[in-house]
Amino acid sequence: MKAYEIMNELFSWAPGDYTKTCDTLKAGSPDKEVRRVAVCCFPEVNAIKAAAEWGADLFITHEPFYHDHWDKPPVSPAGLLKKELIEKTGMTVYRYHDHPHMAPSDLICEGELKALELKGTYKTRYAFGQNQFILDEPVTARELAKRIEEKLNIAHVRISGTTDTPSTKLMLGWGAPGGVWEALTGDAEIVIVGETCEWQMAEYARDASQLGMNKTLLILGHCGSERDGMKHISELLQKKIPSVEVRYFESSEVYTYQDSIR
Ligand SMILES: [Fe+2]
Ligand SMILES: [Fe+2]
Repeated sequence: MKAYEIMNELFSWAPGDYTKTCDTLKAGSPDKEVRRVAVCCFPEVNAIKAAAEWGADLFITHEPFYHDHWDKPPVSPAGLLKKELIEKTGMTVYRYHDHPHMAPSDLICEGELKALELKGTYKTRYAFGQNQFILDEPVTARELAKRIEEKLNIAHVRISGTTDTPSTKLMLGWGAPGGVWEALTGDAEIVIVGETCEWQMAEYARDASQLGMNKTLLILGHCGSERDGMKHISELLQKKIPSVEVRYFESSEVYTYQDSIR
């Protein structure tokens, strides 16, 4: 199967025209014959090397290569070396970012909920990457943070605001979602994000909590908040196209903690 045919399958999961988004060919030929597909969330150098070593023909990534949303040709020292590395692998490379978030059910959200084994009702997509979810059973922010650390293999989830009040109204914001302010100032009790503006959002949650409101912001880290979504997509793709071999390549957390080996 050719690389572009596999991508057309993936792109078809989100109806609409996304040709003007970042979901485009980034390197190599769209006509490349593909036997092995590597899927990853953040294309860190180690993930690129691991995929090339495995013999991937097609490399699909959620996030950009060159620290720029549009993957503009790099001019930074590390960006230039990374470009050289990617070209040397000979892999065909595509971005898959907007489509999965805009599929009828946000596929990144689906993967994260599956990994977290959270039971509840998915209400609506509130903003890009921001999903309203009502839990069947109440949980405190502290309990939820612990669950997230264990299930998503995140070393430290940061909690701002209320820690020990049972809650059901969640806003699930994967990556760096929009609508965080609206979620915090709306009726969500626990707002989950990968990353956000600390001086504004975390401080709002702290003030709201100290004023007696049940309001919490959980900050997971961007990578840890989305990678199970891409793992989920790799599984869906393998089921859909069994004639090629699909493998998910892990992106590690971007930070190293002195009290953790993760
Ligand atoms: Fe994302
Ligand atoms: Fe993201």
